[in-house]
Amino acid sequence: MNKKRGIYEHGFDVHYLNKYSSLLALGNGYLGIRGTHEEDYTGQTRGMYVAGVYNKATANEPSELVNLPDITGIVIEIDGQPFSLLDGEVLSYERSLQFETGELRREVVWKSKTGARYELLLQRFVAKHDLHVIASKLTLISLDQPAAVKIVTGINAQQTNFGKQHLIEESVRVFNEEIIQGVYKTTESGVTVAVGSSFHIPEHSKKTFSAKNRQLLAAISQEVAKDEPFVFEKLSTVYTSHECDRPETVSLEAVQAIALQQYEDLLKRSAAAWKEFWEQKRIIITSTDEFDQTAMDFALYHMEIMTPAHDDRFSIGAKGLTGEGYKGHVFWDTEIFLAPFHLYTEPETAKKLLLYRYKHLREAQEKAVQNGYQGALFPWESAFTGKEETPEYAAINIRTGTRQKVASALAEHHIVADIAFAVVQYYENTIDEEFMKNEGLALLKETARFWISRTVDEGERLSIHDVIGPDEYTEHINNNAYTNYMAYYNVEQALYFMEQYGDVDSSIIEQGRDFLKRLYLQKPNDEMIIPQDDTFLTKPAIDLTPYKQKQGSQAILLDYSRQEVNEMQILKQADLVMLLYLFPDSFSNEVVMKNLFYYEDHTIHDSSLSKAIHAIVAARCDDDEAAYRFFQEACLIDLGPNPHSSDEGLHAASLGAIWLAAMFGFANLKIGLDRLALDPKLPENWTELKFPLTYQGRTLEFKLTKQVCEITKLSGPELEININGDIFKLCDRLEVPMTN
Ligand code: BGC
Repeated sequence: MNKKRGIYEHGFDVHYLNKYSSLLALGNGYLGIRGTHEEDYTGQTRGMYVAGVYNKATANEPSELVNLPDITGIVIEIDGQPFSLLDGEVLSYERSLQFETGELRREVVWKSKTGARYELLLQRFVAKHDLHVIASKLTLISLDQPAAVKIVTGINAQQTNFGKQHLIEESVRVFNEEIIQGVYKTTESGVTVAVGSSFHIPEHSKKTFSAKNRQLLAAISQEVAKDEPFVFEKLSTVYTSHECDRPETVSLEAVQAIALQQYEDLLKRSAAAWKEFWEQKRIIITSTDEFDQTAMDFALYHMEIMTPAHDDRFSIGAKGLTGEGYKGHVFWDTEIFLAPFHLYTEPETAKKLLLYRYKHLREAQEKAVQNGYQGALFPWESAFTGKEETPEYAAINIRTGTRQKVASALAEHHIVADIAFAVVQYYENTIDEEFMKNEGLALLKETARFWISRTVDEGERLSIHDVIGPDEYTEHINNNAYTNYMAYYNVEQALYFMEQYGDVDSSIIEQGRDFLKRLYLQKPNDEMIIPQDDTFLTKPAIDLTPYKQKQGSQAILLDYSRQEVNEMQILKQADLVMLLYLFPDSFSNEVVMKNLFYYEDHTIHDSSLSKAIHAIVAARCDDDEAAYRFFQEACLIDLGPNPHSSDEGLHAASLGAIWLAAMFGFANLKIGLDRLALDPKLPENWTELKFPLTYQGRTLEFKLTKQVCEITKLSGPELEININGDIFKLCDRLEVPMTN
């Protein structure tokens, strides 16, 4: 059977409720809705989030992405029996998220406690063609006898962020006995959110409305004959004061307009927008393991729905819009792991993500001053205001009652250079002079200014003290190699672009040159190992096998305190290997290989940002087996069997890294201002890899096999491409045999 592309759940299992709610989330970058069931189950976390709608529950807490009123819940009662997969008998069950249409479907045949059988089809999607529209449909057929069907659904503002209530109910209304609307305001940030729903219900059904305890509900009941479908459609809209002045009016008008349409028509239009997305951006993998393609489609689908490409005031949270993990905050994940997908397929979106940073340059400058530095110190975690949002303390230790301070806001400063790196990467792939001259240069200069002020003068050399590199198990160290190299690149690029644009700001140039001359950069030691920082290699090591087996769970912290972990050679995630990944030309093959092996040994991969980066570097080192294994393990972070891996949302950066692995590991692309190069390293299991690429105004299509590399230019001027070390001219189409 030729199944439609998607993620499938073939049986109902309560242990996976929240994982599947994240995996099967719907969205369009403006809003996201978790793939929860219509009916309630204990422990099931519903969630609807709109990008940029954050709120603080109390003044001293960080902002969190607000869990908005729910519109997905439906209480279904048939012949007086509440429909629940935990009651009666489930005769058949299949739930799927269909990539091609963006629709979530559930087909169930259910036998109630009375012995009667019913067929239910539940459908839902978030429109891709209209950011504000959500549609759902229920088709219920009684298979054995006439039945009394009753459903209750509406707008439920009892939703909280794990108990924290962020919304004031401003008004709940029923209009013309047809449309319901709830208007809410966030308690601290003052964002108005208007949610409206209209219904298509069977003729002659009974309908009543009620509003109580923050729930605005419609109850619809109908007697149906055996085999006569009961069809119910709910078409909803969401607007907020972020994008319009009177969301209550706009939302009402919008819901009145969509009330005239049908679920299937709306779905067709949304699916057409998805079709275009897949045609333009899909990577096609021909592998002996179908899972590789599914994981890639899954990554692309989610990157698309998590990215607020419509508005440069927002960025991407660490869990996208799929859950409340990390409170919806924005990390370096965006610039280093997620922006490249957009940059190389739709650069405008990557630009918007940079503009989000640019718009908060002032807050970053304020943070720098507060911490005794100059320039721009971007927050480790940010939300809508651009201020630092990292929680001050981690979870409480319930044995001791003490709380561990979170040091990232104070020391995880590499994010500053990560942003600068993304600025340069954007320019190199677009030659967008307008952006670079203005926002880009401002970002580069202010971040460079920060690094210059961040150094300690040790006479001969400048050092950067007391930082946390990407490896968060190693805190408060000096001269983290990743941080220093990135800072160097940041200052170097700032000076380069200042010169290009004739900017003679002497407050940076002189000190910048001195910085480049004297900044300490860790070099390979006699064993060719680049020290992660000044003291890392002097620390004792332990066998990490048991912890690697429980990757992602931070099991090491159950056996050792954070301080103890800090004093050993233990990495949470790729750190030095990140450096090797981002600067493929800076180190010899031998150094890269030695360091990959060395650091892999000491890395638990407790962070989801790690595995795929090791895959990339392993591929480049021609370690096929390890590269493919790391790649597949990275794909399993969300899609694997662990029932709770993704309860609070998907791992956005790791999804980005799956795409990075195909492009920068297996296709082994190198993309710069003056070169486009590739040296493919297809895994044993792959016979073909096809992908699109946007490069300096050109649209290209690559088809790689073990025998041949085919490149087609769909638009833009001619160019030269370096394939396995040889230069070829690409006019319209190029076919180069692979010799290695
Ligand atoms: C990782 C960070 C990452 C954050 C958000 C942490 O566990 O160590 O590198 O930015 O998660 O994804």
